[in-house]
Amino acid sequence: MEKILLLDIPNYHRIDVYKEHGGYETVKKAYSMTPDEVIDEVKKSGLRGRGGASFLTGLKWSFMPKTTDKPKYLCINGDESEPGSFKDRQIFERNPHALIEGALIACYAIQAKAAYIYIRGEYHNWIQMVQKALDDAYEMGLVGEKMKETFSTPYECNIYIHKGAGAYICGEESSLMNSIEGKRPYPRVKPPFPAQNGLWGCPTTINNVETISNIPSIIKNGWEWFSKIGEARHPGTLLFGVSGHVNKPGVYELPTGVLLTDLIYNYAGGVPGGKKIKCVIPGGSSMPPLRGEQLEGIKMDAESLKAAGSAIGTGGVIVMDEDTDLVRVLARITKFYYHESCGQCTPCREGTGWMLKTLNRIARGQGTASDLDLLVDVAKNIEGNTVCALGDAAAWPVKFMITRFRDEFEKAVKREIVIPAANKVHSMRNTALPLADRSKS
Ligand SMILES: Cc1cc2nc3c(=O)[nH]c(=O)nc-3n(C[C@H](O)[C@H](O)[C@H](O)COP(=O)(O)O)c2cc1C
Ligand code: SF4
Repeated sequence: MEKILLLDIPNYHRIDVYKEHGGYETVKKAYSMTPDEVIDEVKKSGLRGRGGASFLTGLKWSFMPKTTDKPKYLCINGDESEPGSFKDRQIFERNPHALIEGALIACYAIQAKAAYIYIRGEYHNWIQMVQKALDDAYEMGLVGEKMKETFSTPYECNIYIHKGAGAYICGEESSLMNSIEGKRPYPRVKPPFPAQNGLWGCPTTINNVETISNIPSIIKNGWEWFSKIGEARHPGTLLFGVSGHVNKPGVYELPTGVLLTDLIYNYAGGVPGGKKIKCVIPGGSSMPPLRGEQLEGIKMDAESLKAAGSAIGTGGVIVMDEDTDLVRVLARITKFYYHESCGQCTPCREGTGWMLKTLNRIARGQGTASDLDLLVDVAKNIEGNTVCALGDAAAWPVKFMITRFRDEFEKAVKREIVIPAANKVHSMRNTALPLADRSKS
């Protein structure tokens, strides 16, 4: 299968190489269409957002008001801070010009005059890589005021890189906008939604990096081409980040609908030592986990995973072998959400702390049988009762891990398992490094 985003072309990140392969030609095609025609093409392609919720991109773009005196904005979300999710940085590193070209087309479609690429502040190398690509595009008159001349169009657009504040909550779309505005990144209460009241109170569209990077290929090859790749209800390729207990952790670009077992055994090289799989989280740490014995036949797309009781999320597949201590895994995941809660709403601020304390107690061998029901109860009280979805992200792992692996947790509270000293979750550090640096680690 031909790849769309991570092409095997040497130096594709360089503007000369990108242009040699037809780069920045598609934006000309887009400017020969009306903005509505571009939106329609994206709608018909069936592209769904790659930032976690799989929302239809063309539909989201169509929410932007057509008649407004206010400026419009595009925000491209490259915060990427969820454990298990490390795919957008592959685009920063290997195909930044598809992101820039996609931003130019998306801005034209929604008639925005500026796009902000929001990248987590700690990702110094990736910020530099995207900045270099952007500087080159400006230099060649492909972005900014010179583009009017380059593309013979009255339309002009600027793109800025905004360094994130280094917190998971900054990836939530309304916090991201507060962060760009220089405010504390508290999520905003919705409605109003960003299309009505976004950056500086103006209409704004927020899309993930991978979503926007798909746009040039869709406009170049047409919606029918894209809609035939992978699964009809969730077409295209996805960048699957596979980590945990696999021999070849990394990012694999594959059509949607690839079998989860194929991804783990054929692409990611299977489980070290040939061990059995106990648990897989298929879409980043906040998504409901699956039991090892239920993986056969599960396809990797939004609808199939929903039917299997989980969600595609960001396509970050975390694999845990039969020796993994799920009590400690859950305590570690919960620690992350407790630490990252912005503290604005009580169920999330207090609930994550309660869940963490209880899980740590169980992990120390001091839990009781009633703790398990209590944990599920606390999780259910967080879910759906908070300003933003971080509450759900904290609640789901607890609720689903305990209900789906009740046997494991019961053994822990009955002291039937010996709690090992070290957390057995495989370090994700290695897979989070740029490809070029991995050999050094
Ligand atoms: C706590 C939290 C963190 C998030 N982090 C990210 C992120 O790093 N990148 C991202 O694209 N979306 C993230 N999202 C989802 C965004 O709010 C938003 O839905 C997404 O950027 C929309 O892009 P899409 O329509 O292209 O998927 C996060 C959501 C929550 C609740
Ligand atoms: S759910 Fe948590 S992170 Fe989101 S606004 Fe409420 S306290 Fe903040």
